[in-house]
Amino acid sequence: MNFVNQNIKPLNTKINEMGNLEISGCDLVELAKKYSTPLYVMDKITLEQMATDYKEAFSSYKNTRMMYASKALMTSTVASIFYKLGFGFDVVSLGEMYILKNAGIDFSHATFNGNNKGREELVYALENNIARVSVDNFYELELLNEIALQKGKIQKILLRITPGIECHTHEYIQTGQLDSKFGFDLHMIDEAVTLIKEKYKNLDLRGLHAHIGSQIFETQVFEDEIEVLLKEIKRIKDKFNIELDEINIGGGLGITYIKSDTPPDVYKIADIIINAIKKYANLYELNEPVLYIEPGRSLVATAGVTLYTIGSSKDIQGIRKYISVDGGMADNPRPSMYNAEYFAEIANKKDDYKPETVTVAGKFCESGDILIKDIELNSPKAGDILCVYDTGAYCYSMSSNYNGVLKPAMVLINNGKSDIIVRRQTLEQLIQNDVIV
Ligand code: LLP
Repeated sequence: MNFVNQNIKPLNTKINEMGNLEISGCDLVELAKKYSTPLYVMDKITLEQMATDYKEAFSSYKNTRMMYASKALMTSTVASIFYKLGFGFDVVSLGEMYILKNAGIDFSHATFNGNNKGREELVYALENNIARVSVDNFYELELLNEIALQKGKIQKILLRITPGIECHTHEYIQTGQLDSKFGFDLHMIDEAVTLIKEKYKNLDLRGLHAHIGSQIFETQVFEDEIEVLLKEIKRIKDKFNIELDEINIGGGLGITYIKSDTPPDVYKIADIIINAIKKYANLYELNEPVLYIEPGRSLVATAGVTLYTIGSSKDIQGIRKYISVDGGMADNPRPSMYNAEYFAEIANKKDDYKPETVTVAGKFCESGDILIKDIELNSPKAGDILCVYDTGAYCYSMSSNYNGVLKPAMVLINNGKSDIIVRRQTLEQLIQNDVIV
């Protein structure tokens, strides 16, 4: 059986009686007509299924706290959906916290992460009673203590550490290896703990935090990460006589963008993580800690597709045929940034199947603006609707206004119903902050 993150397409994707692609009872060609393209589409059922699988997979470890990594996709509706499902949040900026607040969500289950949090951001987090701040470095320890003192608070914190684990993913989305801008190296931990114990009296150290990378298919790295975290907790216990009782292991579980991607399912990952905690807690004679996990991509990527309209094409005889769509690197920068690969299909009816290998180009003024290189599509023509799969994570959240192109709208679909959850940007919004002097 395939779990959500092992599928390329959202649940309930099919060709309907009209011959068009349909997801969760919504005809994609109709959606494109109604809301115009490019259009981000999020399927609520797929998203909720993955979230439920996460909860179910970790249910045997009672002390698990699910924290959705907002950076993958943060909108007020998406935040509300996760909140209703009992998720907390990993937030990394004032903006993400503001969206949470706007959705009516308090910060009692939120962790503030990041390697260079600003004063204004920390003040906002504390004023809104954030549950945890994962402190990344010595500068932040001092700054946070000063702010907590001013506010008359004792802030609960974790220490973000660099566990020195390399996982095989793209260099830019690898974070746990030694040469990383994130976190305290293992040899810096003792100094940080000493400072908190002796000097920073407004900080209450509860545990350790790490994140080893993103789009991970290996399982051993999660066990290695837990070994490092619990070994450090044991060392701190022996040296300082403090037993930390929380570990936050970050996110990272991969998804299936193309057929050759083979991520493990969430139940397998949960087994490995839970067994590793039990094994190392037992080995180091520690209480089993509270476990925080912060999945982002695996919760939202598969639930999302982007619809584009095909426009011009260029056939370079014997070399390559380009077809261009009405979006590209501004609504999905991942192919140009990480060489990320995607699968796509023509959404509208075709009378017969005539496969053609093409390269899908965006409309932006840059040769690197290629969404998909060499994909077989069914006789793509101008006016056809192209559905690119797995765009639910790190597309809208990383989108830009490059070339003055407006950001697309996003709709949430659910059993034949569709609702706008992010309106298409307007030209007025594009210049709203411009000042003519
Ligand atoms: N926790 C922390 C501390 C993180 O830094 C991240 C991701 C996550 C959780 C969530 O990881 P996920 O489950 O989504 O893998 N823009 C890149 C991905 C950057 C990930 C950054 N940190 C991409 O488009 O592939």
